[in-house]
Amino acid sequence: MLAELDTIRTEGIATLEGISDETSLENFRVNYLGKKGRLTTVSAGMRDVPPDQKAAVGAKLNEVRTALTAGIEQRLSSLQAAKDAESVKGIDVTLPGRPARSGALHPLTRIRDRAIQTLRRMGFALADGPEIETEWHCFDALNTPADHPARNEKDTFYLPDGRLLRTHTSTVQIRTMESAKALPVRIIAPGAAYRRDEIDATHLSVFNQLEGLYVATDVSLADLKGTLEYFFQDTFGPQTQVRFRPHFFPFTEPSFEIDIKLEVKGQEARWIEIAGCGMVDPAVFEAVCKSRGDKLFDPEKVTGFAFGMGLDRLAMILHGITDIRHLIENDARFLSQF
Ligand code: PHE
Repeated sequence: MLAELDTIRTEGIATLEGISDETSLENFRVNYLGKKGRLTTVSAGMRDVPPDQKAAVGAKLNEVRTALTAGIEQRLSSLQAAKDAESVKGIDVTLPGRPARSGALHPLTRIRDRAIQTLRRMGFALADGPEIETEWHCFDALNTPADHPARNEKDTFYLPDGRLLRTHTSTVQIRTMESAKALPVRIIAPGAAYRRDEIDATHLSVFNQLEGLYVATDVSLADLKGTLEYFFQDTFGPQTQVRFRPHFFPFTEPSFEIDIKLEVKGQEARWIEIAGCGMVDPAVFEAVCKSRGDKLFDPEKVTGFAFGMGLDRLAMILHGITDIRHLIENDARFLSQF
């Protein structure tokens, strides 16, 4: 029996050498070590081995089983290694990797987010309103009646039912005050605005504004100036100069245009008109009171300031962009610079 075991081992190891795929290897395992395998069959003969030889035969049996098991393992791992090597054949692992292409936020998105961040820190909450508006929210409530010259100047796109695409985000002032539950109201509203302008390097028929409104019982012009000066210096740097120029808007009194002067790389510092602002006209509060049917915005008791700025303009200044059309053309050569 000892001799038989030796033969099994020798034959087994020799057969293993010639095995070149995993299926044959599994067949081999079944043939030798399986329930009806050669080794198992032989070990059944243990019963008939004389007692004084049992130990020696048992030891040999184990030895052969261990040798075959190890042989199978070894064959399996070298078969797998060969398979791995085959699958990466022709790949040069020393080549540098291809960098992942990362996207970036649009310059307009960036400036909007930055403006919102600063103003929220100052206590302004985000507000919103529809882009398709009633004439009342866009003009009448903002002290701009039908025969008002300012209305003509800003004429926009009208829908057949008389509604229009808002010409400014100031509509959100009205919407916010209409639905406010209590004072103070302190909101900002970024969004699209529409004008019937000829399209050129500085005009589009749709552009982006950021509106602001603060109404309470004791809001002053000093608050307006302090808030906006801080805003522009935070956005464009502490050296930024801010200038308020008297102007006219139907819905604010007094009204101003804001110019800022700042250094942009490669450009001479100059004054740039950037926003409109002013103290909310009492006529606006009156319109809101009438619409609400209460006196929360009693023009005798509340005061407020409002401002509106062009975000496209801000982005253009910040990045030295000379043509507003670049912002909407989606040309990858332009966008990939940011
Ligand atoms: N709505 C004005 C415009 O579009 C800007 C503005 C907003 C002016 C709020 C004063 C107060 O030009």
